[in-house]
Amino acid sequence: MACFFLFLSIFFFAISILIPASTPHITNPTNIDGFAVHLIHRDSYLSPVHNSSLTTADRIQSAVHRSFSRLNRIHSLSSPSLTRDISFDIVLDDGEYFMTFSIGTPPRQVYAIADTGSELTWVKCLPWKQSHEEAPHTFNPSNSSTYMKLPCFSPSCRDLNWYKRFCIKDYCYYKERYGDGLTTKGTLSTDKFSFEDDYKNTIDVGNLAFGCSDDASGPILGNETGIVGLSRRPLSLVSQLKYTNFAYCMVVPANKHWLGATSKMYFGSEADFLGGQAPLVTGSNNQYYHLTLQGISVGDEKLQIPSGIFDIAENGEGGFIIDSGTTYTLLRGEAYDALVKALSEAIHLPRKHYGEDLELCFEASFEDLALQPDITFHLNATDVILTKETTYEPVADGVWCLSILRSKSSLSILGNVQQRNYFVAYDISQGNEAVYFAPVNCSNPSF
Ligand SMILES: *[C@@H]1O[C@H](CO)[C@@H](O)[C@H](O)[C@H]1NC(C)=O
Ligand SMILES: *[C@@H]1O[C@H](CO)[C@@H](O)[C@H](O)[C@H]1NC(C)=O
Ligand SMILES: *[C@@H]1O[C@H](CO)[C@@H](O)[C@H](O)[C@H]1NC(C)=O
Ligand SMILES: *[C@@H]1O[C@H](CO)[C@@H](O)[C@H](O)[C@H]1NC(C)=O
Ligand SMILES: *[C@@H]1O[C@H](CO)[C@@H](O)[C@H](O)[C@H]1NC(C)=O
Repeated sequence: MACFFLFLSIFFFAISILIPASTPHITNPTNIDGFAVHLIHRDSYLSPVHNSSLTTADRIQSAVHRSFSRLNRIHSLSSPSLTRDISFDIVLDDGEYFMTFSIGTPPRQVYAIADTGSELTWVKCLPWKQSHEEAPHTFNPSNSSTYMKLPCFSPSCRDLNWYKRFCIKDYCYYKERYGDGLTTKGTLSTDKFSFEDDYKNTIDVGNLAFGCSDDASGPILGNETGIVGLSRRPLSLVSQLKYTNFAYCMVVPANKHWLGATSKMYFGSEADFLGGQAPLVTGSNNQYYHLTLQGISVGDEKLQIPSGIFDIAENGEGGFIIDSGTTYTLLRGEAYDALVKALSEAIHLPRKHYGEDLELCFEASFEDLALQPDITFHLNATDVILTKETTYEPVADGVWCLSILRSKSSLSILGNVQQRNYFVAYDISQGNEAVYFAPVNCSNPSF
């Protein structure tokens, strides 16, 4: 099979050299130095999946579930042997922050999850095999006068990994795998993209390649309409826009409906490198953003953790990833145990049992917890100190739980809750790959 695809790629590569004129080239995106867009939290009333009848406990439970599901998905995709915990389904409704943008002529607004762990940007297209209803934000390619399918010999098709693409009648189809058996597939296409900035200006970025998805092998629930790929690979949104940097600033919600508070994502000149620098692990695959976590402290006390447990193993498993789509930080068992032990010893507040997954909870007020020692992640070469707002989550009246979870694999992930109130900027220029962390108030209008 591999040989066959390799042959096909060489074959189409050869053809495209021979007849370049017939390749519909994607025009370079317009020269815009940079721009910023809103990120909409899935629980925000602005979100397409907002459900106002969910209680705080429901929301936390589903966030815990999504975190485990996402861990499984990343773990199973980056490991040669599929040793995932089968008690958590891998569902496509993980991810946390929606971006909204418009595709086509006339422009059609869609919502898609901003995902630093994905390459291909794809949206749900009509006709959609699993449902015949017109969902609220589904893209109908036959309504767009600028829509085009991309042929197999197009450069964008070749940018897809060979195992993700196949040809039908000369057109490029993709199949994106999301963990065990769950896939989405469709036509690799191109159309006009535009974004709306903070001042409601339309930012036309020209034609981009994207996946027009017409099918998924598993449940795609609710109104999620796709994924925005933000990895370092060639087809991701940042790479196609020819930016070598992007950033985000995720707010701490002021109340359970996230009224008025939107987080933001920045591209190009808007994504300044502020604060401490943590170089990406070199030699890791460029699908995920791996960082070097050297240790964790509670107050001034460094946790006793076996050295090297956050490193990528020789078979590619494990490591420490920063991810936009995982809700709660997950630490592998040895580190999680040490963290819970250190916090239990340092914090003299009544403990409270709350469910299986949130292992450390207190009967306390936020003010009580605010006085307790900080948790610091020692990255190479910057410290990320968690704020109390992002360390504990109120699960019930007067009950706060540590919002860090036990990873059930060798992989550890810095989740987006713990990235709130940090301006997190990614430098993806070759040779300088790094993530910058600056503690800021993301609700402050200047961000
Ligand atoms: C909203 O949440 C409630 C409570 O969990 C659930 O019963 C209902 O199906 C949800 N609605 C939608 C549209 O998902
Ligand atoms: C797209 O076209 C179909 C008919 O092909 C029409 O029913 C539908 O209203 C159009 N949708 C939009 C958003 O224009
Ligand atoms: C999807 O969106 C529609 C219209 O905005 C809304 O009525 C419906 O409840 C949403 N479904 C879910 C599962 O959120
Ligand atoms: C920390 O990063 C520097 C610069 O990238 C690198 O030279 C060094 O080996 C790293 N140290 C560890 C322990 O990874
Ligand atoms: C952050 O900024 C918002 C808006 O300016 C303000 O309401 C809030 O109090 C600030 N938070 C902190 C911790 O300073």
